[in-house]
Amino acid sequence: MRHSANFPCFLKVVGDLLDSDQVQSMSRLNHHGKVTCYDHSLFVSYLSFRAARFLKLDYRAAARGGLLHDLYLYNSKDKSAHPGWQCFDHPVAAWRNARELTELSQKEENIILSHMWPLARFRPRSREAALVDFVDTLCAALELCRIYRPIRLRANLPTPLAPVA
Ligand SMILES: [Fe+2]
Ligand SMILES: [Fe+2]
Repeated sequence: MRHSANFPCFLKVVGDLLDSDQVQSMSRLNHHGKVTCYDHSLFVSYLSFRAARFLKLDYRAAARGGLLHDLYLYNSKDKSAHPGWQCFDHPVAAWRNARELTELSQKEENIILSHMWPLARFRPRSREAALVDFVDTLCAALELCRIYRPIRLRANLPTPLAPVA
């Protein structure tokens, strides 16, 4: 199915989260180079949604988990903001913030906690979690190599949801 046909369904699934202050505030945090945490998370969420739909998996959990997987909401370069190594700390911080924001299914919780596997200690326990883990790595590589700028995706959002860069 084409992008134009998928995007309205994607917005139905994650529109409430995209409109939240917490998710919007990710646009103030740089994540991979100049790519913001918001743009990266939107990229991971949308690709996970598309892949899960194609594979007939739980696309709602993949899209929501993908959008919230990096909701850690602190400056990762500020050592006082988290106690240990960012690789281990940020999935747990994201999970805590996501739980405060919305009711998560067990699958969604595991998607967030396990997205750094095998580096981090939580293991993916569903095909959707493994999918988001893979898509996150792929998106990070595309962003770091500057092959794709996920800000293009944001251009498709309705104006009220588009964050200030
Ligand atoms: Fe992450
Ligand atoms: Fe990520």
